[in-house]
Amino acid sequence: MIPTNRTLFSTTTLVLLALTALATSCGKSSESSRSGRQFGIPAARKEANEAFQSLCVTCHGTTGHGDGPGAAACDPRPRSFSDPAWQASVTDEQIQKTVLFGGGAVGKSAQMPAQPQLKGKTELLQHLVAIVRGFAAR
Ligand code: HEC
Repeated sequence: MIPTNRTLFSTTTLVLLALTALATSCGKSSESSRSGRQFGIPAARKEANEAFQSLCVTCHGTTGHGDGPGAAACDPRPRSFSDPAWQASVTDEQIQKTVLFGGGAVGKSAQMPAQPQLKGKTELLQHLVAIVRGFAAR
């Protein structure tokens, strides 16, 4: 389960994201990028990071501010995940539902695509939610 202490968890999330980025981006040996476990990153966490990079940053941006290259084509534009009022207004279940069934299913923009292939991947979905939560401004 996702830990309940959100602030602590968000900090951990950011640190882990930063470590992952370092491990994968600065031309170190492939050894270090493959060995996420070395940093205590569970496999589902890594998978979620990769899923976020490949499925979400186009619109939501690498920092969740809704400023990815595809965002301009969206109307309304994706909101910033850093907005505390928005963070407080949605439950983890709603975020999961948005990801699985798309924006149209939760009364938001139908331009937010559904990801039906993630159905049943509970752990991966929980980590995706944690990534979205991790963008909250502190
Ligand atoms: C084609 C662009 C696009 C892609 C790709 C995309 N989104 Fe979205 N997303 C949107 C738009 C547009 C909205 C609706 C605007 C808003 O209210 O934020 C949205 C809304 C959301 C919301 C807010 C829903 C709410 O309750 O307010 C979440 C959470 C979200 N997206 C997560 C994700 C995640 C996670 C991924 C990757 C699995 C993803 N999105 C991929 C465009 C996109």
